[in-house]
Amino acid sequence: RPFAARCSLVSRPEYVPNHIPDPGYVRIFDTTLRDGEQSPGATMTSNEKLAVARQLSRLGVDIIEAGFPASSPDDLEAVRSIAMEIGNKPVEGGHLPVICGLSRCNKKDIDTAWEAVRHARRPRVHTFIATSEIHMQHKLRKTREEVVRIAREMVAYAGSLGCKDIEFSPEDAGRSDREFLYLILEEVIKAGATTLNIPDTVGYTVPDEFGQLISDIKSNTRGIENVIISTHCQNDLGLATANTLAGACAGARQLEVTVNGIGERAGNASLEEVVMAIRCRSQSMGGLYTGINTKHITVASRMVVECSGLLIQPHKAIVGANAFAHESGIHQDGMLKFKGTYEIMSPDDVGLTRSNESGIVLGKLSGRHALKSKLIELGYDVSGKELDDIFKRFKEIAEKKKRVSDDDIEALVSSEIFQP
Ligand code: KIV
Repeated sequence: RPFAARCSLVSRPEYVPNHIPDPGYVRIFDTTLRDGEQSPGATMTSNEKLAVARQLSRLGVDIIEAGFPASSPDDLEAVRSIAMEIGNKPVEGGHLPVICGLSRCNKKDIDTAWEAVRHARRPRVHTFIATSEIHMQHKLRKTREEVVRIAREMVAYAGSLGCKDIEFSPEDAGRSDREFLYLILEEVIKAGATTLNIPDTVGYTVPDEFGQLISDIKSNTRGIENVIISTHCQNDLGLATANTLAGACAGARQLEVTVNGIGERAGNASLEEVVMAIRCRSQSMGGLYTGINTKHITVASRMVVECSGLLIQPHKAIVGANAFAHESGIHQDGMLKFKGTYEIMSPDDVGLTRSNESGIVLGKLSGRHALKSKLIELGYDVSGKELDDIFKRFKEIAEKKKRVSDDDIEALVSSEIFQP
């Protein structure tokens, strides 16, 4: 796994806002603290946001979108503290994340965002305005010309404050007219934008289509070679991770994600899925790699559950409780012989320590082989008739219980072996 090895070194090219010296390197932009916090019921206190930001920095994300400072005085304060602490303290290996604040395209929002992030050594302002007909007509009530003028003027305004790292998002790009997108993107590049983020705001596109959108923007927007293209995919159709990867394969070099995939409505592309897909399948994606230290993923996921109050389903890829557990007899048999039979990555890669080494969970589908291995693990060397009897009793218990615990096995063994 040559690229996985490269990844775990967490070596990354020098940070230049509008350029990545290594063409295979993909920046990870984490928006757990902004879009993630917009999930219903997920608000975090300033201290919780700071703690999550510390973990994101350890994880090695390139950019932390710490909040939307104009949305409330609390958020302004939270983003400012993150900029002051996390934005000035390099972690192990010397990595220092960019600290970003979101703003609508108006001077007040941009002033507030800049006031919050400017304390970081690498501050970024991210400004957005909608570009789809449906949004411009019904939400903004503005013409195309007005929207282009506002975008151009507000990007230039952020630059006039001293901000050298400016991200622009045409909101609802996934449903925007292509020619109009090229035009507005060209204008904001001329005004000083360094990253152009392409949001699929309502999670409407499918992977081929989103990949094509990124390719078309790359081929048709003048000046695009001087900036970074980014993706921001919502998960309304469950396609956020697939769309994000399609965008990366088409040339996007910044991917916007959240831990556990939290975010508005059905959430965003999940950091752990996108990062592990790139790590496990790098060669199928032209050798892409990220700077994420994947061993910190499990802790980050648990911390976000704790702070946001949003639980994750057991079968959630990478971080769900069952992601590295095996219950059926055939799978358990395979796992006991060779782990690669049913695991494409090791739990250790994502910082997960399993309570038992092979991830075997005993239940009604488990076979004799798995039971025997569990008995050995618990210190019982049984075979022949004794094992047959224990296995029969085990199956009866497993029919009634969803999972058979170590304590159940201990009780079963003592009643079978030590019967008077
Ligand atoms: O979903 C969206 O369009 C956004 C933008 C502000 C990037 O969150």
